[in-house]
Amino acid sequence: MYNSRITGLGYYVPDNVVKNEDLSKLMDTNDEWIQERTGIKERRWIKENSGDTTASMGVKAAKIAIERAGISKDDIDFIVFATLSPDYYFPGPGVQVQHDLGIKTVGAIDIRNQCSGFVYGISVADNFIKTGMYKNVLVIGSELHSRGLDKTTRGRGVSVIFGDGAGAAILSREEDTSKGILSTHLHSQGEFAEELVVKAPGMGTRWVTDILAENNPDDESYYPYMNGQFVFKNAVVRFSEVIMEGLIKNNLQVSDIDMLIPHQANLRISQFIQRKFKLNDDQVFNNIQKYGNTTAASIPIALTEAWEEGKIKEGDTVVLAAFGSGFTWGSVIMKW
Ligand code: UT7
Repeated sequence: MYNSRITGLGYYVPDNVVKNEDLSKLMDTNDEWIQERTGIKERRWIKENSGDTTASMGVKAAKIAIERAGISKDDIDFIVFATLSPDYYFPGPGVQVQHDLGIKTVGAIDIRNQCSGFVYGISVADNFIKTGMYKNVLVIGSELHSRGLDKTTRGRGVSVIFGDGAGAAILSREEDTSKGILSTHLHSQGEFAEELVVKAPGMGTRWVTDILAENNPDDESYYPYMNGQFVFKNAVVRFSEVIMEGLIKNNLQVSDIDMLIPHQANLRISQFIQRKFKLNDDQVFNNIQKYGNTTAASIPIALTEAWEEGKIKEGDTVVLAAFGSGFTWGSVIMKW
């Protein structure tokens, strides 16, 4: 038996900073509301003609992770790409990364688990490595939200929250099973699939020909819908549960957590978890203030920044936890 271990991390965010004040020029919102309800001060949105796409941002993050892992692209055995905002309806961006990085014809899989996508991706990669099938797996979380948001007052409950960006990790085989990823825990509850959803394009309800013929600018089905308070209430419960599930599985206590990287959904959710678990400020990492909610990219961006800032050291117990659309949620417990 092997474990897998994160050996390289990288992230990429577009240069274009969009402040809360900038949004108040587009819709009826204000800095005070956004900061008080979400903690967000600014986010990155791609500039038109920048060339940034979900796949290309993922490639930029991946290049950094590969270099830091000290491996070559030819050492990568498998690619896992998590996103809810792919460049194409199909194929998913995993194959674009394989091509753009010039990686030989290894497998590439796309994960459609929204805010939990990176945690699900880590679990997939970890289990392929644990069974001995692969040695090095590239896991990417990347999102380009800004092209898909309703930037009018109608969409303000959602559009002020989301940002663009990408993060990537290399998971490599670790022979010492007391190190690296100790366990991953995944859950879903499809009962609430429509509480946080983008319904179109999809084949579930309408013919594509009808949608095109309607050409209806009031059609909201292409924009994200979120039942914010309901999602919030479920998030705080599920975050707590799935962190505890991971700790119990590994005979760890809350006080053993050296670094918790929660999915950056809302600063108030992270602060609720921090208070509940009585963690101090250096045990929880947040960067939603700068980037907003980047969905599948939020954990790898935050993990990379925490590592770059020297906040994660060898031997640390690091916990990743996510909750989002699906509902899906999950956690990763690792020994750094
Ligand atoms: O990442 C996936 C998981 N996502 C989450 O976990 C997000 C969970 N939910 C949330 O973070 C919060 O529910 C939100 C930040 C989305 C919303 O905060 P809230 O405190 O739940 O506000 P609300 O939706 O109850 O809205 C309160 C008021 C409403 O006005 P009335 O009806 O009280 O007059 C909204 O119309 O705030 C209004 N509002 C805004 N006002 C200014 C909604 N969006 C805005 C806005 N600017 N951007």
